Amino acid sequence: CGCMTLPSDAAFARSFSDALGIACTEARVRRFPDGELEVQWHPGAMPHTAVVVASLAATQTDSLHDRLMQLVFGIHQLKTAGVERCIGVVPYLGYARSDTKTAPTDMVGLQIVMRHLHYAGMDALLTVDVHTPAALHNAFTGSAWSVNAVPPMAKALYAHLPAQVPLSVCAPDVGAWKRARAWAGALSTPARGAVELAMVHKQRIRPDAVTHDAFTGDVEGRTVVVVDDMISTGGTMAQAVRTCYEHGAHAVWAAATHGLLVDPAPVRLAEVGVKGVLIADTIPDDRTVNTPLAERLHVV
Ligand code: R5P
Repeated sequence: CGCMTLPSDAAFARSFSDALGIACTEARVRRFPDGELEVQWHPGAMPHTAVVVASLAATQTDSLHDRLMQLVFGIHQLKTAGVERCIGVVPYLGYARSDTKTAPTDMVGLQIVMRHLHYAGMDALLTVDVHTPAALHNAFTGSAWSVNAVPPMAKALYAHLPAQVPLSVCAPDVGAWKRARAWAGALSTPARGAVELAMVHKQRIRPDAVTHDAFTGDVEGRTVVVVDDMISTGGTMAQAVRTCYEHGAHAVWAAATHGLLVDPAPVRLAEVGVKGVLIADTIPDDRTVNTPLAERLHVV
């Protein structure tokens, strides 16, 4: 078994391969003047099973679609070179939100991405906190697992929360309600007592803008943790943080597994006075350096 990775994911892949005690090999990616890509693995003995580590998110150097093609080409090359079994470790799975048709002509991006990866030779997939686990299982014919990042993230956040202030966990929309319950369970301890639940009823008015029409739960005088699977443009999280402060919250944290943090998320979150932002290391690089959010960002 060997770990194989794309260049931008090398740091994450090495911590993964160290934990497993297996060798890690980095692909060489060449870009031609016309934009075409070439992915090459170091020639030599190929493992029977390759664990291919690559997050499907844009980086500072590559678009999401470049990264997708690199993964498709990389897996295809491994299978061509004699690898028997390819397990994709894709901590952030781009297009996971495109999982349902709301009109007959809609596309389901997740299905198309999963078909390409399966066709290339990916036999199984491990990801983290996918948007809708059931949709992933429907979209991929091989085995797929979504690892739950809430317990380690809650453990990391717990130390930052003042013990004497009561705690609420807030879902920024209906879709995050189950996640909020999981977070509340993970943050409840005999010392701190029960954690209250709250929810913002979100309305998306544009792809990068949201508003809300109702709020339920008690956040007055409390430390609040708003929890979601991802922060993209920050509209959902910023709206929820603002709403919690409007309802009397003492201090509001944001916790989301995937910190895409595309513009203007860092500014939006800083402007609403978020106390701190906790994300997991599922996205290869940190785009918040030199932003107003930098000092408030914690990566697990
Ligand atoms: C939506 O259902 C997701 O769980 C997130 O709430 C959403 O994708 C976050 O996007 P943004 O940060 O752009 O509001």
